[in-house]
Amino acid sequence: MKLIKVMFVCLGNICRSPMAEYVFKNMVREAGLEEQFRISSSATSYEEEGNPIYPPARQTLIGHGVPLSSHRAHRLTMNEIEEYDYIIGMESRNVSNILRISGGKHQDKIHKLLDFCGGGDIADPWYSGDFESTYNDVVRGCKALLDKLRI
Ligand code: 4NP
Repeated sequence: MKLIKVMFVCLGNICRSPMAEYVFKNMVREAGLEEQFRISSSATSYEEEGNPIYPPARQTLIGHGVPLSSHRAHRLTMNEIEEYDYIIGMESRNVSNILRISGGKHQDKIHKLLDFCGGGDIADPWYSGDFESTYNDVVRGCKALLDKLRI
C-alpha cells in the first residue's frame, strides 16, 4: 500500500492551511483511512515562522468538533515539494508562490484546493475576519479531494 502524502499551503500557515490540515485529517480518520495518508501544512512566507494556529481559526475548528494537535508554522521547503504527492494551495497567489519555491518544477503535483470542486480561491480570513466561510470552503474542498483520492 502506497502512502498518499498531502501538503496544504497558504501564505502564513496559521489560518487556512492548518484548518485544511486538521479538517482533512479528521475526514481521513472518520473514513478509517488514517494509515494511508501523511498530511501536513506549510506557508509560502516566513511571516509567521514558529507561530501556533491563529486563535480564531483554532476556535472555529474546536467549534466544529475538529481535533487539533500542536502546530508551529513553517515555510514550505523544496524537500517537502519533492517528498509530497499533492501540494495544495488555498488561492491562486499561493500556487504562484509554490511554483517560485519549486523553481517551476513538479507542476503536476501543485493544485488549488477548490479546483477539486469547481474552482475558486479561499479568501484569507486574516484579512476578511470571516472564519466560518473559510471553514465551509475548506470542508467543501477537502471532501472533494478525499473523494478523488479514495481507493
Ligand atoms: P493564512 O493567513 O495565509 O491563511 O495563514 C495569514 C496569516 C498571516 C499573514 C498573512 C496571512 N501575515 O501576513 O502575517
